[in-house]
Amino acid sequence: MRKDLKKMRTLYDEGVNIIKHIKKESQSDKNSSEMITISYDLQSGNYIKKALEYPEWEDEYSNIFAKVLNQLGEYDSILEVGVGEATTLNNILSRISNVPSGIFGFDISYSRIQYAMNYLKKKNVKNSTLFMGDLFNAAILDNSIDVVYTSHSLEPNGGREAEALSELYRITKKYLVLFEPSHELADSETKSFMEQHGFVKNLYSTAVKLGYKVIEHKLLIGQDPISVNKNNTAVLVIEKINDFNSVSPSLQEIPLACPITKAPLELIRNNYYCKESLLLYPIADQIPCLLPENAIIATHYMDDFEE
Ligand SMILES: C[S@@+](CC[C@H](N)C(=O)[O-])C[C@H]1O[C@@H](n2cnc3c(N)ncnc32)[C@H](O)[C@@H]1O
Repeated sequence: MRKDLKKMRTLYDEGVNIIKHIKKESQSDKNSSEMITISYDLQSGNYIKKALEYPEWEDEYSNIFAKVLNQLGEYDSILEVGVGEATTLNNILSRISNVPSGIFGFDISYSRIQYAMNYLKKKNVKNSTLFMGDLFNAAILDNSIDVVYTSHSLEPNGGREAEALSELYRITKKYLVLFEPSHELADSETKSFMEQHGFVKNLYSTAVKLGYKVIEHKLLIGQDPISVNKNNTAVLVIEKINDFNSVSPSLQEIPLACPITKAPLELIRNNYYCKESLLLYPIADQIPCLLPENAIIATHYMDDFEE
C-alpha cells in the first residue's frame, strides 16, 4: 500500500473513497490500521475547513460533549485519543469549567497532527502535547491521565473493541469517556450504515464483560444533520477503579511511555529514548513519532563517545 500513496492522493482528490478502494484492491472486507491511517492522512485539513464552514454545528456538538465532561468534577489532565486536527479538543477546552494543566492528544496520522499543532497554535492553546500514536499501543504510562476521551476515533476499528477498551483503561487514572457511534442504541438504518463501514459495535456490552464500572451510557446525537452519513454519537462513561498498589506518575512529568514495553520515555538529544527497552523514537519536525513501528533499535544510544 505504501508504494501507491501518490496514486491514492490523486484518487482522493478525484473524490474516490480511499478505504473502499484499498479494500477492493486488497480483496479485504476489514478495515486494517494501515488503511485507516492512509484514508485519514489523505483527508488532513478537512476537519478544520468543516469547523470554519459549520460553526453552529461545531458549537452544538462540543456543548454536548463539554456538558458530559463538566459532570466529572475537577481533573488535572485530559487526553483526546485519535485527536485528528484538534478541532474537537479546542472546542472542548474552551467550554470546560476548569481547564486542566496537562493537555494531551495523539493520532495515528502524522499529517493530521501537523494540522492539529498549527490549529492549536492559532487558537492560542498553550501547554498541549501532541504526538503520533496508536490507540492499541498507546505511548502513555499506566494510570497517568485523569480523563481519557475519544470522539469517533474508535469508530473505524470494528472488531477490536475489547483491545481498544483495555488499552485506554490502562492509561486512564479516573474516567474513560467514549463519544462514539452506538450500534447498540441505533435505529435499523444507522445499524446497517455502521455495518457497511466496519464501525465498532457493542462498546457498552464489551465494557461490562471486561468488568468495568459504566456510570453513563446514552445516545447524544442522532444522524449527522450536515452529512449524508447515517452515523450517530453516544456516550459511554467508565469510572476507573484504581488498584491501590499501582503508581501514578507525578503531574509535572509528561507521562510518555514506550508503546511496545510501556516503560518511561525520556527526551534525550532531541529524540525519545526508553532506557529499559533500548528503543529510540524520533521527533520529526517537532512531532514525536511514537507508533510501535517508529521504534529504532538503539541498544548503544547511551554510550559515551567522548572517551
Ligand atoms: C472521525 S476522526 C475524528 C477526529 C477527532 N477525534 C475529532 O473529533 O475531530 C477519527 C480519527 O481517529 C484516528 N484514528 C483511527 N484509528 C486510530 C488508532 N488506531 N490510533 C490513533 N488514532 C486513530 C484517525 O486518524 C482520525 O484522525
